[in-house]
Amino acid sequence: NEVGFEVIPVAGRIGAEVRGIRLSAELLPQTTQALRAALLKHKVLFFRKQDHLDDASQEAFAHLFGDPVAHPTVPVREQTDFVLELNTDHGGKADSWHTDVTFVDAYPAFSILRSVIVPAAGGDTVWANTAVAYETLPKELRDLADRLWALHTNDYDYAGRHNQIKPDALRRHQEVFASTVYETEHPVVRVHPETGERTLVLGHFVKKLVGLNSADSARLLSVLQDHITKLENTVRWRWEASDVVIWDNRATQHYAINDYGDQHRIVRRVTVAGDVPVSIDG
Ligand code: SIN
Repeated sequence: NEVGFEVIPVAGRIGAEVRGIRLSAELLPQTTQALRAALLKHKVLFFRKQDHLDDASQEAFAHLFGDPVAHPTVPVREQTDFVLELNTDHGGKADSWHTDVTFVDAYPAFSILRSVIVPAAGGDTVWANTAVAYETLPKELRDLADRLWALHTNDYDYAGRHNQIKPDALRRHQEVFASTVYETEHPVVRVHPETGERTLVLGHFVKKLVGLNSADSARLLSVLQDHITKLENTVRWRWEASDVVIWDNRATQHYAINDYGDQHRIVRRVTVAGDVPVSIDG
């Protein structure tokens, strides 16, 4: 039994809302399998009214998708093993395009985000489909991207991407987020280990394209990044408290819109381990 949920696409190329399911670690294997299939197809799944979940049951649920992993530098929330809290009271915002934790070799496969406090208006999150982005590139650019590699690091230019960054926020970012500097190279195009699709691996942790000078690298990165985030490749979610959103971190980027001023926003994330990206050459 179980399964029995409905999958309702939210946008044309990415994202679906799932209705008629109560997320928990006790879901039957066939339900978990059907959810995973929907996730691989739609890249992001949205669930409303999961107010029975707390940190522990969110972590337990995450195990259905693989092995949860803590963030490499940001301490987990007290009394949890894996929960990363983004709390605007402590500067926690994710307002530039990225894929989670791409600065490590085997970055997470999935992220499971639960909203705790959301602004009355604003604070939506947008996801982009990096598989459809690859597919819709002109062939000449696909062929070029297929051969590129990029250097990713958590020591990225945070100040360069944020206006009016306060010095203490910058210091905190350096102390916590980049307390240990990670650097890794990934192919710009990876073959998705479950779907076989080719996806683009870029976002704000990219420092530069390997083998190009920084000016050429910056120009080419803008071409590719602008293509990924074309509105046609995206879906935008208006949060309510106790929503859960799960995304395939190997096939998406996301951006939390910073348009809510001083309103409070808290979301909590558990990520699930992924594998080292494989290029089209294997
Ligand atoms: C994240 O980048 O994982 C968080 C996105 C959000 O705050 O909506």
